[in-house]
Amino acid sequence: MNEINKILEQNIFRVISDVANKNNTETYVIGGFVRDIFLQRTSKDIDILVIGSGIDFSLKVAKKLGIKKVSTYKNYGTSMFKYKGMDIEFVGARKESYHRESRNPIVENGTLDDDQKRRDFTINAMAFSLNKNNYGELLDPFNGIKDIEDKIIRTPLNPDITFSDDPLRMLRAVRFATQLNFELDKIVFDAISTNKQRINIISKERIIDELNKILLSPYPSVGLSLLEETGLLNEFFPELTKLKGTETINGVSHKDNFYHTLEVVDNLATKTDNLWLLWAGLLHDIGKPRSKRFNKKQGFTFHGHEVIGGRMVTDIFKKFKMPLNEKLSYVKKLVELHLRPIAIVKDVTDSAIRRLLFDAGDDIDDLMSLAESDITSKNEYKVQKFLNNFVIVRQKLIEIEEKDKIRNWQPPITGEEIMQHLNIQPSREVGIIKNNIKDAILDGEIENSKDAAFAFMDKIANKLGLK
Ligand code: CTP
Repeated sequence: MNEINKILEQNIFRVISDVANKNNTETYVIGGFVRDIFLQRTSKDIDILVIGSGIDFSLKVAKKLGIKKVSTYKNYGTSMFKYKGMDIEFVGARKESYHRESRNPIVENGTLDDDQKRRDFTINAMAFSLNKNNYGELLDPFNGIKDIEDKIIRTPLNPDITFSDDPLRMLRAVRFATQLNFELDKIVFDAISTNKQRINIISKERIIDELNKILLSPYPSVGLSLLEETGLLNEFFPELTKLKGTETINGVSHKDNFYHTLEVVDNLATKTDNLWLLWAGLLHDIGKPRSKRFNKKQGFTFHGHEVIGGRMVTDIFKKFKMPLNEKLSYVKKLVELHLRPIAIVKDVTDSAIRRLLFDAGDDIDDLMSLAESDITSKNEYKVQKFLNNFVIVRQKLIEIEEKDKIRNWQPPITGEEIMQHLNIQPSREVGIIKNNIKDAILDGEIENSKDAAFAFMDKIANKLGLK
């Protein structure tokens, strides 16, 4: 028995087939599950196409399997239940997949052929029959199999129609090309360029979902470049396309920060599958266009781009309705600190290491990965030299952390204690004193103890005229 037969012999498909036969209904397994069989990928979802009502049919199958919990979505004409850890989704065949001007799909009774035509890509339109007369037959009217062999993303219909049915598919095309290392068919690429503005009717959540999948691919730069080349990126993420381009004044140039960013994200993708670290890579230089200056002495400078970048991270998370919680704080922190490790390489003192450990806390390893990934130069020798220096910094980080335990350290005196001891109200001075104590300990000026901190506090209070 070959692999495909083995898969289609699973109980779920046999039960669906039996129920369909009894009820005189046609059913097919369709979409990503079929595609992934040929790509030898495992998928968690099974899409069942029903010629008729998907919801009614799913209830019959659930009953037969003894499944109580079925989620139905009447607006969309779909329903789903979980079976052996998989999501089994049922949908009635449609003639028109989506309303032209609205994001809400309309449900119409169509045939298998109608439904396959209205799907996004040829590789996602393939179906296996679950009907008794031709059980297991592959129905591939748009040559999805050949497109898998040729590694190409094509649409069943003219892509202008496919994309106007659901403009998110433009992003999906790029996402599949990135995940699978496929190319976009030329007319698909051109149709994205023509229809790019339509992406603006899509919800931010759906857009970010696709962008996240691109970032989690082996080479995110494949997708980010396609997004840029088609003009789609500029539609929904102009902050990123502003990084593009170089400028030369008096024979002095700066690098193209967009392509540099893509290299950084690719470097990170080889080291991590932490989505938020990849986001930090994507946004690490986002503040550069706003901070760019030129002077004769230094050439181009981007002073403070990490601070401006940190602020922009918040704006971008808000705009895309991304989580405004510890994920945001993490990305913002990494963007703000991304230059610190490289600055330390030039001067590896104990106090600089202690400060870095204090500021980065538990995210120090991720910060180091980001900083290492940020070293992109055509000059291999230069890259290697920096990376070797990072080995020294990492070693030193371990030594100092073992000795001083700074990662999760808090200064020995709280603001409350300062106010009580000096008998003062909440004020700027409290912050100044607290910071001075922290700095003195990190710089090794005073011991890391309550007694030393109180003595030091008295000294500063005298200076500030508080005693
Ligand atoms: N589909 C579509 N247009 C969309 C989204 C989905 O035509 N905008 C169809 C495709 O046939 C797709 C199927 O619905 O294969 C299931 O969609 P989904 O679960 O989102 O994607 P998968 O193809 O299963 O891939 P993945 O799980 O990687 O998203």
